[in-house]
Formats: sequence, C-alpha cells, structure tokens
Amino acid sequence: MAAIDLYADSFFQDPYPTYQKMRELKTCYWLENHDRTSFEGVWMVSRYADVVKVLRSSHGTSVDVKRLVPEPQWHAFDYTLLFTDPPDHTRLRALISAPFSNAGVRQLEESITRIVDQLIDNLLQRGKVDFLQEFALPLPIKVISNLLGTPPEDSGLLRQWTSDLTRGLDSTVVNAEFLKNQGTVLKDMSQYFADLLGRAQQPSGTIIEQLVADTNAAACSPREALAHCLLLLLAGHETTIGMLCGGMFTLLSNPAEMEKLRHNPGLMDGAIDEMLRYETPFQRATFRVVTAPLLLSSQEIQRGERVSAVMGSANRDPLQFPHPDRFDISRKPNAHVSFGLGIHRCLGEKLARIEGRIAFTRLLQRLPAIELLDANPRWQRRSLFRALEALPLRLG
Ligand code: HEM
Repeated sequence: MAAIDLYADSFFQDPYPTYQKMRELKTCYWLENHDRTSFEGVWMVSRYADVVKVLRSSHGTSVDVKRLVPEPQWHAFDYTLLFTDPPDHTRLRALISAPFSNAGVRQLEESITRIVDQLIDNLLQRGKVDFLQEFALPLPIKVISNLLGTPPEDSGLLRQWTSDLTRGLDSTVVNAEFLKNQGTVLKDMSQYFADLLGRAQQPSGTIIEQLVADTNAAACSPREALAHCLLLLLAGHETTIGMLCGGMFTLLSNPAEMEKLRHNPGLMDGAIDEMLRYETPFQRATFRVVTAPLLLSSQEIQRGERVSAVMGSANRDPLQFPHPDRFDISRKPNAHVSFGLGIHRCLGEKLARIEGRIAFTRLLQRLPAIELLDANPRWQRRSLFRALEALPLRLG
C-alpha cells in the first residue's frame, strides 16, 4: 500500500483515495503536526462511525485552546465558539442563535434572492465567467455582511482578511511566517470590529448592534462579542463558497444528475445534501483533546491525546453510504456529517442550505446552458476548507 501523505499535491487535488487508505488502517492515522501547542501530532479519525463518536463526545473532549497555550499567546479567535467548552459555550451560542433559526433565515429569503439575481444578471452579460470569483464568493460575503451590519463597501477587505486568516488556521500549512501573518490579520480585524462595536447604536436588527446590547447587559464580555463577529464573518462565508463552487462543479461533471435536477426542481434539497456530502466544504473538525478515554472502532484514544474528525472521509465511507463515490442527488438516506454534530454542530446550517437552494434554483432557471471550460480544475492547497482555485464556465 502506498504511503499516506496529507501534504502531497495529489492529496489536495483528490483526497478520497488517501481517505480510503486511512479507513483501512488498523488504528487511526497519526499526523505529525506542530502548532502553538506542545502537541507533536493528532490522531486523524476517518471512519464514519468513529467520526460521529468524536463529534458527539463533548463530555469526554475539550476544544479549549486556552488550556493548551500560555496566556500571552492567546488571540482573539481563541474566544470563539469553536474553541470554547460548556458552560461558556452554551451561554455564548444562545446569544447569537435567533438569526440562524428557521424563522430567522426565512426573513432573509427575499434579500438573498435579490443578491442572487443581481449576480446572475452580471453573469449573463458575459459569455465566459469564473464562477468562483463572480458568484460563489460574493454571494455568501454579501449575505453575512448584511446580517452582521458591516458597510457593503468593506466586503473586499473582509474577504481578504478571511482568506489570509484561514490559510493560517489551516494547521497542516502552519509555520512561523503564517503564524506571524495570522497575528497581524487578527489584530487588524479585531480593531475593525472593535470600532464597529464601539460605534453601533441601539439594536435595530444587525448582529453587531445586538452584541453591543448583550455586552451592555453583561451577557458577554467585549472580547466575546468581538470573537462572535470574527467567527460569524469567517464561518458565515468561507464554507459556503466551497458548497457553491464544489456543488456547481460536481453537477456539471455529472450531466445526467444535472438534467434530472433541471427537470425535477423538487429534488433540490436532496441535491444540496448530496453536494455537501460529495465535496465536503469543511473537511475536518477542529482538534479535540480527549479528557476521558475514548473508545473508537479502531483503537482506544487515551486521556491527553488529540483527535481530529475527518468529515470529508466519513462522508465517503462505504459502510455508511453505498457506492460513496457516486454522485446521486436522489440518495436516501443521506446522513452526511458536513455540518458536524453535537454541541458544535454548525450554527449557520439553515442559512447555508437556504443560500444553496436559492442560488442553484435561480441559476438553473435562468441559465439554460452551462458548460465547464476546464474538466479538471485545480483545488486549493488547503486541508480544512475544500474549494476550487477557479471554476471557468461558458454560459448560454
Ligand atoms: C455549506 C456551508 C457550511 C458548512 C459546510 C459548515 C460546516 C460547519 C461545521 C462542520 C462546523 C463544526 C466544526 C467543528 O465541530 O469543529 C461548523 C460550525 C459553525 N458554523 Fe458552519 N458551516 C457552513 C456555513 C455556515 C454559515 C453560513 C454560518 C453562519 C454564520 C456558520 C456558522 C458556524 C458557527 C458559528 C459554528 C460554530 C458552532 C459552535 O462551535 O458551536 N456556518 N460549521
């Protein structure tokens, strides 16, 4: 069996053969990995049943980086939900849940449709487009900026910061230079949101205004309010970009499924789920430190060791999904784990689904012919977020 190499170019281009090899190992795959903590590596958990167990294991695991790194090295992102354990996690998540509930996202349908239609108007004026730059990227950044209440003209800046930050967060490419850049970006972003939080008035609908009210009511600290802004900006668009461009590429690479969807718009929700399973936008969860022995099918992970649940692999596990490498928009059941599980399950799942549903519905309605200009586009060299470098299309 060829060696497993999670740093190889071929892995980023097509990670699925490597994931298959990882699932076939007797124990989890040990990835040597150095970051701000003193850990020398992490167990990569790749089988579906084990990934579910890790994601649901909040009683026996911790995500709190602040327990692992000396205080002078803590930064603004360490206070986000993703790196916070209960009871603080429970308190903080409740503060920002309302806009992401069913009722909350229903109110956004009209504005999302408007943004989608404007972007398609622009696409229609051109014969050839890069779907990533001209649709998949601007849609989610506009939606989350509106929700947060950041000025529309700042979208480009926010996008650039997020892109720089997520490259640094992607721990298989962390080195001293990345950590330094990450620190600078975090400082700039923190200053930006601190200014906005400082200027915000009484709540009139945006999340930033609500967070100011929460801080004034002592429901959260200014540092926690700031962390919410950073996470919502980042989580609110980086993964959705992957869903939109990965989904479009997968549909176009499977023309029979594309035709089926064009003729049966009722299959749209299932198609979005299958896009999320097939090219999982957030490939693996944040690291968890095991606080009580964790028995997985392949091995017992000891207290004090670190695990990472690889959703991108779980979603292709043949023990859970028959013919996992087949893209099938009618797949049932389709219990993919692309939004995670347990207490850290994606807060923005309903928003992401609604963005996906409106986007693909309008794209298929308004663009009768969409053609791939590159049948083998390059994927970005990142292990956390899966997205294409570009998706050139011809539209008719
Ligand atoms: C297709 C799009 C999306 C995917 C695939 C996705 C995936 C995920 C996953 C897998 C997690 C859990 C990570 C872990 O357990 O380590 C997560 C958490 C989170 N997501 Fe999403 N996400 C998406 C869109 C969004 C959107 C639109 C928002 C809106 C702001 C959002 C906000 C969050 C937040 C706040 C968390 C942290 C939850 C917590 O720790 O309690 N996500 N997401």
